Amino acid sequence: MEEIEMESKEKKGDTGQGEKSHQITSNKRIILIVLGAIVLALSVAVILLGYSLYSESTKPKLCLTDECIASADRIITSMNMSVDPCDNFYEFACGGYVDTHSYYERGYVDRFEELGDIISYRVLRIFDGGILPSMPETVKQAIEYYEKCIDEETQKKVGVEPMLNHIESLGLPRIPIQDDTAIEPSPWPQVLMKGEKLLAKTPFFLFLFEQLNETTHHFTWRAYSPAFYENLFRILLETFNDHLEGDGVDASRAAKELMDLEKKLEMARMVYPSEINERLMTVAELQAQSDLNITSDDPNRFDWSEFLTSYLENSVLKFDIEKDKILVKNPQVIKDTFEVLYNTPPETIELYTWFYYFYSMAPFTTPDLYEAFIATDIYSKLFGGPPKNLKKRCIYFARDIFHNAISYEYLERYFDKERKNKTEVIVEDIHQAFIQLVEGLDWMDEQTKTFAMEKVDAVKPNVGYPKWFFVPGALDERNFFMEDVRGDWLTMNINKFVVALKKYDPYKFKNDTNWFGMSKIEVNAFYVPKHVSIYLPAGILQAPFTGNGLASLNYGAIGAIIGHEFTHGFDKTGQKYDKNGKLNNWWSNETKENFNERVQCMIEQYSKFHFPELGPNVTLDGKKTINENIADNGGMREALIAYDLFKLRQVGNEKMGTEDLHDLQPDLPGLTNYTHKQLFFLGYANMWCQNPSPSILKLLLKWDVHSPGRVRVLGTLSNTKEFAEAWNCPTGSKMNPADKCVVW
Ligand SMILES: *[C@@H]1O[C@H](CO)[C@@H](O)[C@H](O)[C@H]1NC(C)=O
Ligand SMILES: *[C@@H]1O[C@H](CO)[C@@H](O)[C@H](O)[C@H]1NC(C)=O
Ligand SMILES: *[C@@H]1O[C@H](CO)[C@@H](O)[C@H](O)[C@H]1NC(C)=O
Ligand SMILES: *[C@@H]1O[C@H](CO)[C@@H](O)[C@H](O)[C@H]1NC(C)=O
Ligand SMILES: *[C@@H]1O[C@H](CO)[C@@H](O)[C@H](O)[C@H]1NC(C)=O
Ligand SMILES: *[C@@H]1O[C@H](CO)[C@@H](O)[C@H](O)[C@H]1NC(C)=O
Ligand SMILES: *[C@@H]1O[C@H](CO)[C@@H](O)[C@H](O)[C@H]1NC(C)=O
Ligand SMILES: *[C@@H]1O[C@H](CO)[C@@H](O)[C@H](O)[C@H]1NC(C)=O
Ligand SMILES: [Zn+2]
Repeated sequence: MEEIEMESKEKKGDTGQGEKSHQITSNKRIILIVLGAIVLALSVAVILLGYSLYSESTKPKLCLTDECIASADRIITSMNMSVDPCDNFYEFACGGYVDTHSYYERGYVDRFEELGDIISYRVLRIFDGGILPSMPETVKQAIEYYEKCIDEETQKKVGVEPMLNHIESLGLPRIPIQDDTAIEPSPWPQVLMKGEKLLAKTPFFLFLFEQLNETTHHFTWRAYSPAFYENLFRILLETFNDHLEGDGVDASRAAKELMDLEKKLEMARMVYPSEINERLMTVAELQAQSDLNITSDDPNRFDWSEFLTSYLENSVLKFDIEKDKILVKNPQVIKDTFEVLYNTPPETIELYTWFYYFYSMAPFTTPDLYEAFIATDIYSKLFGGPPKNLKKRCIYFARDIFHNAISYEYLERYFDKERKNKTEVIVEDIHQAFIQLVEGLDWMDEQTKTFAMEKVDAVKPNVGYPKWFFVPGALDERNFFMEDVRGDWLTMNINKFVVALKKYDPYKFKNDTNWFGMSKIEVNAFYVPKHVSIYLPAGILQAPFTGNGLASLNYGAIGAIIGHEFTHGFDKTGQKYDKNGKLNNWWSNETKENFNERVQCMIEQYSKFHFPELGPNVTLDGKKTINENIADNGGMREALIAYDLFKLRQVGNEKMGTEDLHDLQPDLPGLTNYTHKQLFFLGYANMWCQNPSPSILKLLLKWDVHSPGRVRVLGTLSNTKEFAEAWNCPTGSKMNPADKCVVW
């Protein structure tokens, strides 16, 4: 999924693994929401009072819908009106936000996080409400999973016994190296075959079945690092010992022995950059590569066709062992890995295999083993890991496999389905706006314009959720986990791996538009270059992004986001793909040169943004953030044209006038001084209000491909002449520099 662009603060780049944790406690959360409601109620009273004073006069009508009042409240409380909008529009629009939104809980706060918190809180309440008879079966199953997850009493009562029974069934001892006089180790290839059947996992290597497209399937062999280290072995084994009567494992000795093997495996997995390669191999070729350090009659020999035959037995996957090929990442790792394995004593292999399957199941047994697992997990340390709070953590796990169920129930309760329809109208306006933009370009030749236009027309918008989402029965039909993820907490989790890897067929419903298993309630938006598609999950189709009561605010916010995603198809990366999502140069040399020149202007411009609070010479990396900045700037321009298209429709007018079109919508209470055009820009800036702690800001500057909110406002708007016009900013003021950079 590396090609997916994320709009909000980078949630570490990969939607698949380890989302950012939400660590605010539920108590504080409730207090925040209650307080928010009081503030809102007060401002309603004040605004209503103000209205009654003026209602007899000839002032334009006020918008007093719930949405408008909420928008007015949010915008006013975010602003710092003593700042000159032509000097620093970010401070003007967001100075109040920075002053009132604490980053102390998480080191960071912005509109995306705020809305995400509300969504998470509502999901939690849905799950805590329990199963209702009217729910689709899949939603019931998700809640059942959640209930088993939070039921720590039962987990404690059940203990480690079922896990040990599973381990024994693989031909492994229940408790390893307890007794040196123990029986002969089981032959390891057979143990791995049984382990793979139980958990769809093997130690030593990762064996994945990938479907490239509808007709071509293949296996991928990858080196794999579980990120083991000596203390992890020791801590988990000691925690395990607490559950045993009598003697446990000699944790220190086992940890040492495991670590010795782990170090050798790490060496074998090491690949020098010059050696990175991949090869399609038949099973026979893979076997030859694995056999380099063993004779063919050795009982320890790992027999691939036997393993694969067993692998395919309880799977929906089709693979011809005689003919089909396996994609092998870094073939020499196979040779090196097997050389290590063949030169390791069977007892050590058995111990490592025991530990590996113990490690795969232990987090789903007792609470203390889960705690030990998470405390030693490198990935959680790096990326935050699951939330600490039990209920939040259980939702987090449930989202992994039941994200459709969670999205369904959330949207049923909280989403106005008209919102999808209304957003599709804005998407179409942005599409038309991009066409107008391309038509008007003076740096692009006609031929390249034709190709650009074709690509604009090819962009597929996916708004809210897929078409099938609320078709009765469709959710259950697409739930591959329906039958197998049942039973107790451990069984549900074991089977979850097996179904995800071996029973999930992404091409079974090939007419569905592909949402990549992405949640529909995420507060984010995406562009996927190879699919020439934009995705706007229903999660982001809420205030302050849209649903703001006035078109000016909606076009300035969600309009600019949609434009941003469209423009990704034409940024430095996106421009390399044609209308079919294939790498293909559709540019003439001269136009490409013009494009590069404009891109260079923007790189240099953004590299001049300073962050004095972090030190004297800290600047933005204009190169790293260029695609996002191109998208922000283009998105703004498209949103402006799209807003004009809205205004034309509003007056039933066919002609595009030369003078500014008037927006006939009523004024925003408390902000009647501002024109709708000005509100458009306030709506844009308000969406990017954020408050990062200095240390997080530093990290963002280093890792995030997006510019911080401040720059998204200042950079984009200072390049937009319509902004300077709307706010009467004199040429040469900070927000209206004489030199502007425009790509799209
Ligand atoms: C608002 O801006 C003024 C002028 O820059 C500044 O002195 C003041 O501290 C700001 N207020 C807040 C709440 O940030
Ligand atoms: C599927 O992928 C294979 C390998 O990349 C390719 O040869 C084949 O043409 C593709 N088939 C379709 C239908 O796209
Ligand atoms: C396997 O590797 C070991 C150590 O690298 C070596 O001593 C041994 O001769 C090799 N055996 C075969 C059959 O290649
Ligand atoms: C939105 O809904 C209205 C009425 O339900 C319908 O006429 C219109 O075509 C829909 N628009 C889109 C873009 O789906
Ligand atoms: C899937 O799409 C194809 C081609 O558009 C169509 O012929 C077929 O009827 C569709 N199948 C279903 C189940 O909708
Ligand atoms: C365009 O540029 C490429 C690479 O620089 C060059 O090979 C090609 O001949 C150029 N085409 C024209 C028409 O100038
Ligand atoms: C900041 O940059 C200027 C000009 O490049 C340089 O003279 C100065 O020493 C730098 N200061 C620090 C603290 O790096
Ligand atoms: C609105 O405009 C009037 C007249 O220009 C001015 O006196 C007043 O301070 C403005 N109010 C706000 C909230 O900016
Ligand atoms: Zn982006």
